Amino acid sequence: MLASRPVARNGKKTVAVIAGDGIGPEVVRVGVGVLERLIELRGYPIEIVPLDVGAERYLRDGTSWPPAIARFVREQCDAVLLGALGDPRVPDLGYARDILFGLRQGLDLYCNIRPVVCLHDRLMPLRGRRAADCNFVVFRENTEGIYAGIGGTLRRDGIDEIAINEDVNTRRGVERIVRAAFDWARRHGKRRVHMADKSNAMPHAHGLWHRCFFEVAADYPDIEARHLYIDALCYELVRDPSPFEVIVTCNLFGDIVTDLGAALQGGLGMAASANVHPGRVSMFEPVHGSAPPLAGRDLANPFATVLSVGMMLSHLGWPEEEVRLVELVRNAIEAGRCTPDVGGSLGTRAAGEALIAAL
Ligand code: IPM
Ligand code: MG
Repeated sequence: MLASRPVARNGKKTVAVIAGDGIGPEVVRVGVGVLERLIELRGYPIEIVPLDVGAERYLRDGTSWPPAIARFVREQCDAVLLGALGDPRVPDLGYARDILFGLRQGLDLYCNIRPVVCLHDRLMPLRGRRAADCNFVVFRENTEGIYAGIGGTLRRDGIDEIAINEDVNTRRGVERIVRAAFDWARRHGKRRVHMADKSNAMPHAHGLWHRCFFEVAADYPDIEARHLYIDALCYELVRDPSPFEVIVTCNLFGDIVTDLGAALQGGLGMAASANVHPGRVSMFEPVHGSAPPLAGRDLANPFATVLSVGMMLSHLGWPEEEVRLVELVRNAIEAGRCTPDVGGSLGTRAAGEALIAAL
């Protein structure tokens, strides 16, 4: 169990920032700019602390996720803002997994909440559909499944090589994410929750998902509970995303389906996410990766990070700021004050400055 975090440190909330690799520092500069401007405008008691982890640190001293930093985040912080991790100079990406899973699993951030909201008709890639047809949230289990890290390799590189990654599903783990999805649906006035699994092919692991989903659903008679196999969900999302409001699924399927979702909302530059353990220190990051070919070129779309900052402010107790930031991003897209991937002609920095000016 995690130690519960101290309630108040000079009455301030502490936000740790990991700019990360590739385009990470560029988009995080915008995200932090938004945060600093809001602190200035509204007097929010937030302290921003940069953390020195990522590829540079790893290449410098071989450290990926040092225990002292892990402890600092767990005991002293309220939120973490993460840019992106991944650097071609470290091909095995072990350091990036140490950091990402050090946060997600180390802090038991079991809810990976990924809104799939298309903010403007121009961004909608499906013929005959409008932005309003794509407005749902994915609750991705974030601590177990195939990501649990259990497995191994035998007779490596030979013709007889055996490679195993175990899919770990616990009743506790499944129940809590399903419950989080229904609670969120109820709090936000949603009418239905879909659960996607592959219980037809994986009767043990995903049979558990199927049983747990309908058991938990019985506690929410006001909300319709529907089951879909994950392949059928992918099909339906592209055919017509409009019936979906909340989707809950396992770690791997949530990873895949949220990239599909990103395509429906205008690309990875628009997809935000929260890695949450309700009531505890949580982590916020854009869904996109470090995009090494775009790094340092002022091309990356900073809006996924801005929207993630919105989710962070909501977690810290200012949900109205999330609503405002979503509207600001929508207005920026409408006015074309954005990067080329979403139809504008501004660089990362200028798109960020325009948005900050609009605050
Ligand atoms: C994501 C990413 C990560 C994941 C990778 C970088 C390990 O794809 O956050 O969606 O699979 O969770
Ligand atoms: Mg992914």
